[in-house]
Amino acid sequence: MNVSEELKRRRTFAIIAHPDAGKTTLTEKLLLFGGAIQSAGAVKSNKIKKSTTSDFMEIEKQRGISVSTSVMAFDYKNYKVNILDTPGHEDFAEDTYRTLSAVDSVIMVIDCVKGVEPQTRKLLEVCRMRNTPVIVFINKMDREGQNPFDLLDEIEKELKIKVRPLTWPIGIGKSFKGVYNLQTQSLNLFMGDSKTTVEEIYEIGDISSTDVEKNIGENFAEQLRTDVDLIDGVYDQLNAQSYLEGKISPVFFGSAVNNFGIKELLDCFVEIAPSPKERDTDAGIVKPEDPKFSGFVFKIHANLDPKHRDRIAFLRICSGVFERNKYYHHVRENKQLRFSNPTAFMAQQKSVIDEAFPGDVIGLYDAGNFKIGDTLTEGANFQFKGIPSFSPELFRYVTNLDPMKTKQLQKGLEQLTDEGVAQLFTKKVDGRRVIGTVGALQFEVIQHRLKAEYNASASFDNINLYKALWISCSDKNKLNAFMQDRAAHIAFDKEERPVFLAESAWLLQMAQEKFPDIQFHVKSEF
Ligand code: G4P
Repeated sequence: MNVSEELKRRRTFAIIAHPDAGKTTLTEKLLLFGGAIQSAGAVKSNKIKKSTTSDFMEIEKQRGISVSTSVMAFDYKNYKVNILDTPGHEDFAEDTYRTLSAVDSVIMVIDCVKGVEPQTRKLLEVCRMRNTPVIVFINKMDREGQNPFDLLDEIEKELKIKVRPLTWPIGIGKSFKGVYNLQTQSLNLFMGDSKTTVEEIYEIGDISSTDVEKNIGENFAEQLRTDVDLIDGVYDQLNAQSYLEGKISPVFFGSAVNNFGIKELLDCFVEIAPSPKERDTDAGIVKPEDPKFSGFVFKIHANLDPKHRDRIAFLRICSGVFERNKYYHHVRENKQLRFSNPTAFMAQQKSVIDEAFPGDVIGLYDAGNFKIGDTLTEGANFQFKGIPSFSPELFRYVTNLDPMKTKQLQKGLEQLTDEGVAQLFTKKVDGRRVIGTVGALQFEVIQHRLKAEYNASASFDNINLYKALWISCSDKNKLNAFMQDRAAHIAFDKEERPVFLAESAWLLQMAQEKFPDIQFHVKSEF
């Protein structure tokens, strides 16, 4: 198969959801349909159950699981589907945001009982920033959920997206009978509670046919006809281009745990979801069909064995063909590197590969060369854009508790923040280091890993901080004047970019009012 055919058949995406909506279950069912796994229960949830904040075994487990489930690839029909896993726990949201930079589309799972939840909202905001195409799967239709029209309204209002249902539920909860496929005009009926039964499909041709009554009874038939009329009146037909531009989302209903509605979702997904898209770099656009190889690192995973400091860097291929044992250019470090054991992930299996194509994600063993966002090329000197850090929400001062291990602490902090576990800022006036994270759990992870992997001890002390925002100004003198004026509140991130540490919303507002030419950014890329 040539490169352009390989390209066309690739679908690289992530499933996003608020914890417990059914992401793990849906992933597993997709793998079952793809024939990549043989039985349910093979995919482990990567979520840390409840608030096991001091249960380090859980954290270790989480790390272990997320290596094995970071990428799950399978073949379906003639497509190669790459699912990129995102962490279940909201404290690892930043990891999810970065993973979203490496996919071409997403499937968003919504629990029909709970509707739109906080994490759904945040994740969709990130998708909207990049115009990522979104397919919605409304799950748990076997439970007494909300009215489907109300759910769609809520999704449109809360997430500010347009939707178009492609299947429609018949009943809900105990009376859930199945779905009507609005595209193929067929009834897919739910066969009870068996987790192995897929579904029975009845081609009915026309919704006014008496076959509908025969299969679902008079009441449901009447309701379905009314609903379908309403859908056609209210929702525009799905326009594939609008979906690809992230403007409209097709919606499917089903029950992942019961295997129901998954096939419709998968069949439609492979057909309409985008193949690898072009990517923006600081030297212009890179197209997947460009002959020269390029890719970027979006995730780094430390080795679970603390005696081996090597890590796995996950690289998304953006153009050309990646080949084993060939020298590639590490742009930031201006180094030539080659990889003798690049790993691909087929379902749960890891294997060494000889080549990989745009859209694929490979694991590269790394002894400390990579940071998140690094670009590899066949010689060109550009860097991929779009893997920003987000303004953290929680902050602590780092205090070294063992002066004999200062170097170890420094190295540990450098490497853990390279992995993207947290962000490190150094204050301008006194050089004190501040760690910023999006969730409290990270502090525990860092403290534990500093001890276990670097033999360094640090305490994390309270700091009164509301936000850390990157600052910029077209006039360098004005930026310097601001940094002088607010010196006690300026820090630098690891790339030496200046950051304003605001102690409260009010102080931030004061700074913005007094220095209107200074821009404050919630992302490191602006
Ligand atoms: P997540 O990865 O999004 O966090 O969710 P996950 O798939 O782990 O699903 C969360 C819970 O919801 C699980 O139950 C799962 O079995 C259940 N679930 C998933 N899909 C459906 C569905 O279609 N209908 C119903 N009724 N439940 C569903 P659990 O009790 O937390 O775990 P388990 O012991 O069942 O695995």
